[in-house]
Amino acid sequence: MIHLKKGEVDTVAVPNDPEYLALVEDLLSHPKVQEMSLYPQHGVTNCLEHCVHVSYLSYLFCTKHGLNARSAARAGLLHDLFLYDWHTYRPQKGERLHGFEHPRKALEQAAQYFSLCPVERDCILRHMFPLTLTPPKYKEGFVLMWMDKYCSLMETLRRPVMARYARQERRLERGMALAEANRQPLIEPKKRHG
Ligand SMILES: [Fe+2]
Ligand SMILES: [Fe+2]
Repeated sequence: MIHLKKGEVDTVAVPNDPEYLALVEDLLSHPKVQEMSLYPQHGVTNCLEHCVHVSYLSYLFCTKHGLNARSAARAGLLHDLFLYDWHTYRPQKGERLHGFEHPRKALEQAAQYFSLCPVERDCILRHMFPLTLTPPKYKEGFVLMWMDKYCSLMETLRRPVMARYARQERRLERGMALAEANRQPLIEPKKRHG
């Protein structure tokens, strides 16, 4: 059972949630993941804190909705494992800007140090949709993409990420229901007779 307490995620670097931690502790203790704390991300939030926010909120949503919470938690923690300060990033010749490049770089680093399942790979690679044109293949990827944008905004505004989580959760639920409805024809195709 998960108890959502306001401020719990905001005030500590890692949420005090044993069920969540059991899924990601091997990643959290890895030096390459820890290295993310050296790089600023949004506002006063460093890259590791941002990834913990995205990972935990994606985990909460996926747990509640019967999705693959383990993959969402793990991909969330690794989705920005590019390991540099993007504020001072200068693209090399032939490279595009950080926003376009970093999902692939994060995936390459993550795959180098950890074993990733297809859901986790796709979640990391597609998290910048719609900036990068290809959408996520899995629902977990859609959740992570949404939580990444929400956390980025809250961090940039220097607001606690849990403050408006309930509202974001409802928005995401509506978005997913809409996507599901669009996937299925609203009117059943007429059956052919004879
Ligand atoms: Fe990112
Ligand atoms: Fe991110």
